[in-house]
Amino acid sequence: MSIHTVLVTGGAGYIGSHACVELLNSGFNVVVVDNLSNSKATSLDRVKQITGKSVRFYEADIRDKEKLNNIFTKEKPTTVIHFAGLKAVGESCEQPHLYYHNNVFGTLVLTEVMQEHNVKQLVFSSSATVYGITDKTQYSEDLPIGAINPYGRSKAMVEDILRDLAAADSKTKPDKPWKIALLRYFNPIGAHDSGLIGEDPNGIPNNLMPYVAQVAIGKLPQLSVFGDDYPTKDGTGVRDYIHVIDLVKGHISAIHAFNKEQFLSGNCKAYNLGAGHGYSVLDIINTFEKITGKSINYKISPRRNGDLAEYYANPELALKELNWKVEKTLKDMVADTWNWQSKNPQGYQ
Ligand code: NAD
Ligand code: UD1
Repeated sequence: MSIHTVLVTGGAGYIGSHACVELLNSGFNVVVVDNLSNSKATSLDRVKQITGKSVRFYEADIRDKEKLNNIFTKEKPTTVIHFAGLKAVGESCEQPHLYYHNNVFGTLVLTEVMQEHNVKQLVFSSSATVYGITDKTQYSEDLPIGAINPYGRSKAMVEDILRDLAAADSKTKPDKPWKIALLRYFNPIGAHDSGLIGEDPNGIPNNLMPYVAQVAIGKLPQLSVFGDDYPTKDGTGVRDYIHVIDLVKGHISAIHAFNKEQFLSGNCKAYNLGAGHGYSVLDIINTFEKITGKSINYKISPRRNGDLAEYYANPELALKELNWKVEKTLKDMVADTWNWQSKNPQGYQ
């Protein structure tokens, strides 16, 4: 059997580098296209250290059509996993044009090049952020879309574009239609258990887990807990945290599903990738303290704008159709985050 080549956009980043490890371990050839706008190529050296195998790396922007065309001509991928994108909600409110250009236009260029090279299997990094505000706390894929910030809207727009592409093609090109999995991630945290790769945020982290880890290591003095008066079990926000290794395994499952019934005649389908239950901010702090033996200095602060009290995935569709579910626990997520943070206090620098 020939070995498939998977082209990974954004493969030097947090989730992308973990995906490279799982893809190489599963026997795929891996080509990475990344402009290193939010990552370092060191992550790919570490991927080699972990797997004993190399990816082929191109430092390029996915919006550079000529470069992308040359890469496709040379590497002949059969499938693309598309992680490349900007992801900071606050920044997206300040610079919406940058986010739409990078995330939406970037995906248009990528899918144009894919189409020209007849590469029609795509796994896209979407987000639970695409769901609109609802009175439900458990999100199923059929809830209405209604993102509330430019970052979320850029993901929702890309989902629409990809659905339209697949619908058009399944009628006009039934011999080789698009097969597209929109994977809606809940809250990815954790790191590879080697401690060699992990999340390396630029500047002060926006997200809870890297913030807690940096307080524990002494890089930041204090965590602000954004609100303790939510209608949740302890008043703090509840989220569905998912170990990054479980998350990237979901991508491999999606690639395998392209040969299954739901994708045979072409399709674009959304799947939640989450555990199906949530943990509060205080759960995270308490588990971190237990596992690391460090005490986390925190204070209760006002709620953060745009935050919801509680939400988590309904992951049944991914179980049924991708044969995927999370395997790791909160303890694994915390222990692996701490292993990465304590071995790499300055990230990849
Ligand atoms: P990341 O910033 O670590 O990785 C993204 C990578 O894409 C980086 O290496 C960056 O350099 C690269 N990149 C960005 N724009 C590019 C462009 N135009 N051309 C080439 N490369 C480009 O982020 P991550 O956490 O690994 O997230 C990966 C994807 O998953 C993103 O699309 C993000 O929106 C999505 N996502 C992430 C989360 C999360 O919590 N981390 C949650 C939901 C969805
Ligand atoms: C945030 C983004 C979301 C994105 C996700 C990626 C916002 C409003 N939402 O989601 O679009 O897809 O990251 O993982 O930015 N918290 C604190 N103190 C902190 C940081 C966070 O108390 O310093 C709390 C938050 O209020 C929340 C929980 O921790 O209750 C998780 O926050 P975070 O890690 O930022 O993720 P989300 O807000 O779920």
